[in-house]
Amino acid sequence: MPSPSVSIIAGIALIAAAVYKFIIYPAFLSPLSKIPAANWSVHFSSLWINYIRYTNVENATVFELHKNKGPIVRMGPAELSVNCYEGGLKTIYTGGFPKTEFYINRFMNYGNIGNMFCFIDSKTHSTRKRMLSNIYSKSVVLASPTARATSKAILYDRLLPIFQKSSDSKNAIEVHSLDYAYAMDAFMAYQFGLDIGSNFIQDVEKRKWYLHLFFSRRPYLFWTTEVPTFTAWMHKLGIRLVPQWVDNATVALENWNLDICDKAEALLSSPAAASTPAISYPAIYAVERAKFQKADIKPPPQMTAKDPRQTYPRRLDIASDMYDHNAAAHETSGDTLTWLYYEMSLRPALQKQLREELLTLDPPILFPAPSAHFELPDPKKVDALPLLDAILQETLRRWVSVPGGQPRVTPGVCSLAGYDGIPGGVRVQSAAYVLHRNPEVFPDPEAWKPERWLDASVDELNEMRRWFWAFGSGGRMCIGNNIAIHSMKHAIAAIYTNFTTTIVDAEGIEQDDGFTAGPKGNKLWLQFHHV
Ligand code: HEM
Ligand SMILES: *[C@@H]1O[C@H](CO)[C@@H](O)[C@H](O)[C@H]1NC(C)=O
Ligand SMILES: *[C@@H]1O[C@H](CO)[C@@H](O)[C@H](O)[C@H]1NC(C)=O
Ligand SMILES: *[C@@H]1O[C@H](CO)[C@@H](O)[C@H](O)[C@H]1NC(C)=O
Ligand SMILES: *[C@@H]1O[C@H](CO)[C@@H](O)[C@H](O)[C@H]1NC(C)=O
Repeated sequence: MPSPSVSIIAGIALIAAAVYKFIIYPAFLSPLSKIPAANWSVHFSSLWINYIRYTNVENATVFELHKNKGPIVRMGPAELSVNCYEGGLKTIYTGGFPKTEFYINRFMNYGNIGNMFCFIDSKTHSTRKRMLSNIYSKSVVLASPTARATSKAILYDRLLPIFQKSSDSKNAIEVHSLDYAYAMDAFMAYQFGLDIGSNFIQDVEKRKWYLHLFFSRRPYLFWTTEVPTFTAWMHKLGIRLVPQWVDNATVALENWNLDICDKAEALLSSPAAASTPAISYPAIYAVERAKFQKADIKPPPQMTAKDPRQTYPRRLDIASDMYDHNAAAHETSGDTLTWLYYEMSLRPALQKQLREELLTLDPPILFPAPSAHFELPDPKKVDALPLLDAILQETLRRWVSVPGGQPRVTPGVCSLAGYDGIPGGVRVQSAAYVLHRNPEVFPDPEAWKPERWLDASVDELNEMRRWFWAFGSGGRMCIGNNIAIHSMKHAIAAIYTNFTTTIVDAEGIEQDDGFTAGPKGNKLWLQFHHV
């Protein structure tokens, strides 16, 4: 047994070592200690940042901090917020810093099945992304017979009749939920074909069911996303921070998506597959399925999950991506459309100006269709309209639907925003909400001004494009941006060719806080009028 004095000396040494490791080093000696701190406590603990996240004030807090402290701020013992281009976006995102566990905790589907969005390992990620990058590329989207045929059906048979009815009856409509429905239907029609994909525009009950399950889980995501270990521990102790019904809601949504994948699989493995008309072709599903079949001739071992649910090859791997993509599609594009209609509804003169541009399309998107053989104009022409483009671009800037931090981890010692010697393993993130409000790049940043994209000089435009971050940047940039822009532009074009809109109730149009974030009031009531 050691003598008491030896124990005391050992105890003192242990305390001194702890004081050095947890207080002196992080607060005074670590290279991170030189960086402006969000709060004195962040040098030693993550309590402050977790509290900010838990109380849903991350955006507001981060925005104010950067205004006062410059482009880089320490948010925790091993966490930085960085909002600038040089030494920021360029180093972290173009430079390919890996994603963090945040994505696994939040975006893995079917329990343990990864997908393109959440893979951390760069080889696994790039193998998956290469499978899908062609079908999502701008040239393929704009030339796709499936996208063209389904766009016409969704606009003419589902969406425009609703606005016509509102104009005829002088009854206002709640467009926010309809925007989610349109975004989902338009995306899933490309993903799975018109018949297998959703019909949330017309099937209001199904739409409500889906959106309720999808969004009601949101308040609980903090626990599993930001403090997963603690949450798992509490669960073991019998304390559920995330209620059972939240897990059940996730399972219900996953099963809904899996059922749709099974239908696409049945179609593609049937003898009739080759004669499927473009409008019914599951364009995205078919590509991932075919790429896996090719890759699986020599299966890479990390990709072959043995799971009784894999009733046909890659059933869950494909479903995990498909789920992630349609979830990404309806929320982001739906929010964007709502804010765009809101801004347009405040500006009758701009609506008129846009309509004049839209009427130059050949043929214009007139409703009802002027003849039985009517086809939509060339999607490339829709895409190239300058005012339509500026209006959408400005909405994606001012009302960015992924406003929150996109976390990455430093891969080794690096320099950020002028600070050297930042060690590996530090969580670093930028936020589009902050980047899009740099007054040197976007003067009067709170103002929604489409003309800023039309009047800028070449140099100004280049700088604006570097700081524009609605879809992220680098190797993990959004893969769905072209199909999203395609479907949003078609809806906007179809509406403002034929109708004008005025606001009836826009209470709560301000943006919520979050990684993805829509209008706080979750609604927008508009009256439609015939031109
Ligand atoms: C207005 C519409 C959209 C916006 C604003 C948007 C925004 C973003 C952003 C900011 C990221 C980067 C996120 C991060 O790194 O944390 C991202 C990634 C991604 N988005 Fe989108 N998105 C939109 C539509 C879509 C659609 C329609 C799809 C369907 C395929 C999609 C699928 C993805 C995927 C798979 C990634 C991950 C890419 C990777 O890790 O390589 N998004 N999106
Ligand atoms: C630091 O954070 C604590 C807890 O949120 C807060 O009470 C305190 O006012 C903050 N201090 C500063 C200087 O911001
Ligand atoms: C973000 O923070 C700013 C500044 O505090 C605030 O005006 C704005 O409403 C916030 N937006 C969101 C999306 O929370
Ligand atoms: C969740 O699902 C399980 C299994 O289907 C069921 O037994 C349970 O009652 C559900 N719980 C809630 C709260 O919905
Ligand atoms: C569609 O647009 C044209 C011309 O802009 C207009 O004459 C027509 O009334 C519109 N259709 C509806 C249903 O309002």
